[in-house]
Amino acid sequence: MEEDRIISPELESQGEERLENSLRPQTLDEYIGQEKVKQNMKIYIEAAKKRGEQLDHVLLYGPPGLGKTTLSNIIANEMKSNIKITSGPAIEKPGDLASILTTLSEFDVLFIDEIHRLSKSVEEILYPALEDFTLDIVIGKGPSAKSIRLDLPKFTLIGATTKAGALTTPLRDRFGIVHRLELYSIKDLTTIVKRSSKILNVGIEEKAATEIARRSRGTPRIANRLLKRVRDYAAVLGDGDITLKITKHALNQLEIDELGLDEIDRRLLETMIVQYAGRPVGIEALAATIGEEVDTLEDVYEPYLIQIGFIARTLRGRMVLPAAYNHLGYEFKNSEKDNPNEQMKIY
Ligand SMILES: Nc1ncnc2c1ncn2[C@@H]1O[C@H](COP(=O)(O)OP(=O)(O)OP(=O)(O)O)[C@@H](O)[C@H]1O
Ligand SMILES: [Mg+2]
Repeated sequence: MEEDRIISPELESQGEERLENSLRPQTLDEYIGQEKVKQNMKIYIEAAKKRGEQLDHVLLYGPPGLGKTTLSNIIANEMKSNIKITSGPAIEKPGDLASILTTLSEFDVLFIDEIHRLSKSVEEILYPALEDFTLDIVIGKGPSAKSIRLDLPKFTLIGATTKAGALTTPLRDRFGIVHRLELYSIKDLTTIVKRSSKILNVGIEEKAATEIARRSRGTPRIANRLLKRVRDYAAVLGDGDITLKITKHALNQLEIDELGLDEIDRRLLETMIVQYAGRPVGIEALAATIGEEVDTLEDVYEPYLIQIGFIARTLRGRMVLPAAYNHLGYEFKNSEKDNPNEQMKIY
């Protein structure tokens, strides 16, 4: 189901990866939005360079498609460092990590995507590497086994994850710099769409850029994907330039509504409104009812629905809010049973 979803924030194909690479900003100044993160990173990078030291280890977290990989490349670029890219699931054994670490040079950046998926035994190799830049390896087996300690070059680890909560405390504590990437404002997404259009060499009306931005769920990856689809419509139905009219037509054809919600979002909200009658519902029950994974629900659908005030996380489960009723054309009934105190009495 995920695969066909045009507004999935996850990377879909190799073709899309090529497109992304061509659209990736190379410097902090080109990186749009995320002002707080940018300002802080500028200072840390400047300071590390002044001291002639490596940058502290960096942890970037937040929903998919917001620019964690992009930012990591930029950080390495700004540090004038080389970057080695790998991911949690790709590092299967402690030996895999050891061989990566021993090929690093002074001030290199090691980027580990999905760092929450490192295994325990791999993580244990990482701790002394991060803290003291040493690597403990065991040579031989049984009683004659010897442990030797190697010195590693001073490097910077950048870890990226959609699930900061899934990181173990000892690992999280070893990052000196921790930043959460936020969903983007419509203004920033409009700038991103205009920038991408320029790179793709296609004209776009300001209002069309804003329209794409509005329906992109705060996510640059989705904005770029929608832009590409709308560009196809403009090539076939118009003279190639992206107008507001063509944009609206294209996005409606793709069944993405005014707020960027698609059929799965609507089904999710309707389930909460109709089937659960607006009562709090546990994430597991919700996932089972609509046939999605809990992880997908939490990482992919929920952040945006929470951001626009359609869903709230409460101690008793997820609750659907009045704005969602309104958007889907349901009447919101605020009855006694919605009052948590009343509910305590009833049960
Ligand atoms: N701040 C930004 N300014 C301009 N373009 C951006 C920005 N952030 C992301 N993009 C664009 O969005 C796309 C997705 O970004 P990226 O691959 O870095 O996301 P990600 O957070 O690593 O996603 P995932 O978690 O799925 O790996 C890239 O093509 C990039 O060009
Ligand atoms: Mg990425």
